Amino acid sequence: MTEKKTWSDRFETALHPAIARFNASIGFDIELIEYDLTGSIAHAKMLAHTGIISKEEGQQLVTGLEQIRREYQEGNFTPGIDAEDVHFAVERRLTELVGDVGKKLHTARSRNDQVGTDIRLYLRAEIDEIREKLREFQQILVELAEENVETLIPGYTHLQRAQPLSLAHHLLAYFQMAQRDWQRLGEIRVRTNTSPLGCGALAGTTFPIDRHYSAAQLGFDGIYQNSLDGVSDRDFAIEFLCAASIIMVHLSRLSEEVILWSSQEFNFVTLKDSCATGSSIMPQKKNPDVPELIRGKSGRVFGHLQGMLVLMKGLPLAYNKDLQDDKEAIFDSVKTVKACLEAMTILLGEGIEFRKERLAEAVAEDFSNATDVADYLATKGVPFREAYNLVGKVVKTSLAAGKLLKDLTISQWKELHPSFEEDIYDAIAPRQVVAARNSYGGTGFDQVREALVKAQNTLSSD
Ligand code: ARG
Repeated sequence: MTEKKTWSDRFETALHPAIARFNASIGFDIELIEYDLTGSIAHAKMLAHTGIISKEEGQQLVTGLEQIRREYQEGNFTPGIDAEDVHFAVERRLTELVGDVGKKLHTARSRNDQVGTDIRLYLRAEIDEIREKLREFQQILVELAEENVETLIPGYTHLQRAQPLSLAHHLLAYFQMAQRDWQRLGEIRVRTNTSPLGCGALAGTTFPIDRHYSAAQLGFDGIYQNSLDGVSDRDFAIEFLCAASIIMVHLSRLSEEVILWSSQEFNFVTLKDSCATGSSIMPQKKNPDVPELIRGKSGRVFGHLQGMLVLMKGLPLAYNKDLQDDKEAIFDSVKTVKACLEAMTILLGEGIEFRKERLAEAVAEDFSNATDVADYLATKGVPFREAYNLVGKVVKTSLAAGKLLKDLTISQWKELHPSFEEDIYDAIAPRQVVAARNSYGGTGFDQVREALVKAQNTLSSD
């Protein structure tokens, strides 16, 4: 395997076998093969279009490359370490298939602009798939929200009961996060979809190439303006890893909530058997493995972002072999984000059931209507801060007496402040507490219904 030299006649001996293995990327960059073939076909067509090679030669190259695609898809193209990377593997096989003309493919190109092209084509396709999965996740959130506009759930700040919410409002908060994720990926797609092909090794080429032609063949939105930048830029990958990390932050926060909600302490949701696992020793247990795994996997994606930043920060222009190490981080992040989005969508779609009676009890048994008592007095002309202090006192005495605000008699209310009337009981009932927060973007049912319509329109306008 190492008898053969990969390089020009400048080299006299082959690589040390361990160094060959260390140097090779074929073990992971084979993932790029479809894009490598597509990129090479566009390059071959450009070479023929500009007369750098003949039309017949161009056709032979394209035919050979399509043949390799078929072989790969049928499982008959499995290059080993000796091929070093996917680019050499393809070129070598091409030459086996079409003869010496195969050696013309690499005219006016370097593996540096080639790999940059491949990774961008790969990421562009994966961004589209992730955006699709975000849409499926948003769809499930909307469906769950539709069913739960009037389901109440305690709302928290500092993980202390704060004010009750429409469950739909809570779910639609995640819809909005996913919407930003979807938009962010759309913006990153534009910069990802820029062609470095034709930048050559670093300085461009002596051949009369047509970079716009090959870029158009590949559906790129534009081309790099500077050849050095084109072969050394990985900003798009950093941006993608950042967007992927933010998606994971969102999924992880939702996971954390599902985990809390499914605990005996909260008891807000039941996990269905199809999405929960048991313990090998404690027969009573049902574990929230799915959200736990999502929460856990966020770490590796954040790690890849950090890794890519560090990989890039000390690199002088232009290409450095360090850049070979960008791929596994990108591939793993893509796979992780897709798998987590899919798992979360299934979990929400069929894996959890909200325990509505328990939720109704939960919102009725706390002091999360205290703000509403203060608001009640404030609307009757009592300055809010004064009302706030007064209600604080009521909460303190009620707590000491083991009572809730709804348990106070009307004379007790009036004793506290003469402005209290019978309608105080309505004002502090959980449903009313939620319904009354009808400010734009608030949890009031009317607002939530409007937000739902907008969310539905967002999904149907794609
Ligand atoms: N396998 C390499 C990579 O992934 C291809 C580019 C190699 N370029 C070079 N000048 N050695 O980055």
